Amino acid sequence: MELLSTAHLPHPLPTTPLALAAAWLEEATTRAIQPNPNAMTLATVAADGHPSARIVLCRGFEVERGCITFFTNYASRKGTELAATGRAAALFHWDLLHRQVRLEGPVTQLSAAESDAYFHSRPWQSRVGAWASQQSQPVAHREDLKAALDAAATRFGAPVSELGGTGGTNDYAIPRPAHWGGYRLWVEDAELWVEAAYRLHDRARWTRTLVANPAAVPHGEASWTGGPWQVSRLQP
Ligand SMILES: Cc1cc2nc3c(=O)[nH]c(=O)nc-3n(C[C@H](O)[C@H](O)[C@H](O)COP(=O)(O)O)c2cc1C
Repeated sequence: MELLSTAHLPHPLPTTPLALAAAWLEEATTRAIQPNPNAMTLATVAADGHPSARIVLCRGFEVERGCITFFTNYASRKGTELAATGRAAALFHWDLLHRQVRLEGPVTQLSAAESDAYFHSRPWQSRVGAWASQQSQPVAHREDLKAALDAAATRFGAPVSELGGTGGTNDYAIPRPAHWGGYRLWVEDAELWVEAAYRLHDRARWTRTLVANPAAVPHGEASWTGGPWQVSRLQP
């Protein structure tokens, strides 16, 4: 694969980081630079202060609103930690582009309507899977998961015999479980990093103050409005 040349951050630095970060994600996606170019490490902190991290897929990058979205199980370890602190950090790394993006800020649950819309865009087998897995809970045997999957399919009138693949034209009405949905991370702190020679990497950090605006979005989703960004170059 072609090794992409490195490039420095623009000079002067953009007044907002998100358009450039979104352009980097777009470039990684259109050039198919790696599998899952939208994969990001999501870091959370438990109520006792212990941090944890895992990969999730970024499903939306909203430059104008200043946020990104991802989907998961609300009762998972990450969901519990997000409920405890209301904050997360997300990290993208595109190795072959020599770029890294760090995003931090408060996290809110998407409205039920928005989570429904994404949930119903997924294959019915994946929707059944959301019912079958109590994510982050212990399970004695892998066969128990298959039994839970079969039971969920049967409950919603979907044939177990079609669970094997994700293809096929049949669809079944599998509703979204209340424990599964999306989150929005409202970016108040962002760092863009570009690899450079002699480890003199190019870094810049943008910060802003977010003001909670719970009434701004219909269907009860909290939202935040961002003040102006402050930007500084950082030593590598
Ligand atoms: C490439 C990749 C993509 C993933 N995408 C998601 C995702 O979008 N949502 C999710 O809940 N888990 C996703 N996972 C699984 C998580 O990394 C993790 O195992 C799971 O969410 C449980 O994390 P928790 O116990 O810390 O809550 C993904 C894993 C990988 C390797």
